[in-house]
Amino acid sequence: MQLNKIIDKAQKSNNLTKEEIVYLLENKNNDLYAAADKIRKQYKGDAVHLRGLIEFTNICRNDCKYCGLRYSNKVIERYRLDENEIIKTAINAINSGYKTIVLQGGEDLWFDADKICRIIREIKAYDTAVTLSIGERNPEEYKAFKKAGADRYLMRIETTDIELYKFLHPNMSFENRVNCLYELKKLGYETGTGCLVGLPNQTIDSLADDILFFKELDADMVGIGPLIPHPETPLKDANKDNFDNALAVMAVTRLILPDINIPATTAMESVRQNGRIIALQSGANVVMPNMTEGEYRKKYEIYPNKICINDSPQRCIKCIKNKIESIGRTVSETKGFRTC
Ligand code: 5AD
Ligand code: FES
Repeated sequence: MQLNKIIDKAQKSNNLTKEEIVYLLENKNNDLYAAADKIRKQYKGDAVHLRGLIEFTNICRNDCKYCGLRYSNKVIERYRLDENEIIKTAINAINSGYKTIVLQGGEDLWFDADKICRIIREIKAYDTAVTLSIGERNPEEYKAFKKAGADRYLMRIETTDIELYKFLHPNMSFENRVNCLYELKKLGYETGTGCLVGLPNQTIDSLADDILFFKELDADMVGIGPLIPHPETPLKDANKDNFDNALAVMAVTRLILPDINIPATTAMESVRQNGRIIALQSGANVVMPNMTEGEYRKKYEIYPNKICINDSPQRCIKCIKNKIESIGRTVSETKGFRTC
């Protein structure tokens, strides 16, 4: 069978041609997911790394056509946590056992390099890894964050289809985004990227290009999410049914980047019950529970029907630990770098 032949090749060489990737995405079945699960086990083991996510600002200068935080969304109530709130939330997460804190926000330049560096230094006073997910900044800022102690940086490319990228991201440059990712790699960050699956006019061919881009960059982490149409965005009528394709893109990514960290994304759980567990059994080895407190959770509405918006950090960590253990996996006690 063609599918199994391609999977075999991937397992032996961790390399696939674009045609082979397209074939896998078009003919995905349980053999693909089982193969990705097997490779995950072989390279990453059964421990799942938890990353505590703090959504510290929903203010954004960009206007991405799919995102609820987009500048033109005038309905959303905007917020910024102050430095003390961010540190307090981080310390709570560290005390609950998290070994990584992820600081995520819209592109909010009120948080200038000095402020971000101060926050990083305060969190790094504890024995923890710090990941930033705050979008495009200039190389000097990336350098300063690194010097302050940041370990990792997440920034999805979203799509490598340049025309589609331009359509989705008014006033942004694909070239700049790619340059940022290579700059981050060069500076020694563990660099994460990823894409959205289910964008209008996105083809299987372009998803295959996305996967090849992850390989070319040698991404250390790849997060894949199904597009969830947000009613207050131009993509409100886009296709909703993107879970299966997102899962397949994730599984194929695992086949050719066997040792990287791959999250079972919150968006997957938001569109499919137990979506994160299904993802953990199809190549993923990371979960990023939300540590944001109180009413801010609801306000960080990148997409609608986000899970856990009425839950507390404590509830989320308990819930996700139970789920992980229920499938015979364990919660990691290490920081979970790509190589360790
Ligand atoms: N549906 C799913 N994911 C989304 N993101 C932004 N908007 C949406 C949406 N409507 C994702 C982007 C971004 C990440 C933080 O959230 O891929 O990189
Ligand atoms: Fe938040 Fe389950 S992960 S309640």
